[in-house]
Amino acid sequence: MARPTIPHIPSSEITPRTVYDGRRDFLKAAGFGLVSGAAIMSGLLPSASHAAQITRQKIERFGKTPYGQEETLTLYEDVTTYNNFYEFGTGKSDPAANAGLLKPHPWTVSIEGQIKKPKTITIEELLRLAPLEERIYRMRCVEGWSMVIPWVGFPLAELIKWAEPTGNAKFVEFVTLNNPMMMPGQNLAVLDWPYTEGLRMDEAMHLLTLLAVGLYGEVLPNQNGAPVRLVVPWKYGFKGIKSIVKIRFTEQMPVSAWMKANSREYGFYSNVNPAVDHPRWSQATERRIGDGLFARRRKTLMFNGYAEQVGQLYTGMDLRKYF
Ligand code: MTE
Repeated sequence: MARPTIPHIPSSEITPRTVYDGRRDFLKAAGFGLVSGAAIMSGLLPSASHAAQITRQKIERFGKTPYGQEETLTLYEDVTTYNNFYEFGTGKSDPAANAGLLKPHPWTVSIEGQIKKPKTITIEELLRLAPLEERIYRMRCVEGWSMVIPWVGFPLAELIKWAEPTGNAKFVEFVTLNNPMMMPGQNLAVLDWPYTEGLRMDEAMHLLTLLAVGLYGEVLPNQNGAPVRLVVPWKYGFKGIKSIVKIRFTEQMPVSAWMKANSREYGFYSNVNPAVDHPRWSQATERRIGDGLFARRRKTLMFNGYAEQVGQLYTGMDLRKYF
């Protein structure tokens, strides 16, 4: 099957000025939340199914990077209709069906904990912290499927530098919105809401770690974590916490929602590791979404193929113990 290439190739000579203008365009685009929210309220969208926003908003400008240029992209339709976002239900199609209730604008993110001064930042301010760029990353879900997604965002390291963490900041905790009105799945005690995740400081500062605000050159669809989410390509997909409202710098290792739910099956590190099976299934292979039902499963690579870039973060650690 023919696969799409990147739909929007921006100028490779983007100057800081045009990047800035691009962000202004994106800010205009950030009205998307208002558009979809208002449309739902006035009955323009199929409110019965709470279908996710149908307004697709292009991000006008973002830098092009060499990351993943050789990869075959997973179709936009698959990326946006087959995923996990338990706040909207536990089925793979539930996020796309129910995420229309989420209003990703206005939105603020609280930055707190071990930093010089706690700050609350609007999504517009967050977008001004660093130029947006596109990176194509391989993603691997703990359940055994994988995708290749062209994300738009900037390194989390940029926000961390801006946040000015103190010497006591050893970890970063992330928290998703807690609002059962907008996230009906939170009415069920599937997880201990709100969803939380964490990274060690050096993992959070690694340049592969992205704060994403878009995919396929467009503003993030609600079901993929609008308006801002984490993307950590060498870890299982559940580390990629969506719809973030809080980033907290801590001295102690945070306990993630999945560790709370089942610490035997889900550890803090969650690095993609074909040598360490999930207690209930092998992690040696994966099914690439789009390969077709009868295609051979692919061999899963250590650190999801990013070993060269991130392997040194774990030198000397027993990755069977720290899974
Ligand atoms: N973030 C929140 N808040 N809630 C979730 O249920 N699921 C995780 C992750 N982020 C999840 C979440 C899991 S298990 C996966 S595999 C990815 O989101 C899948 O979504 P994506 O394809 O949009 O990355």
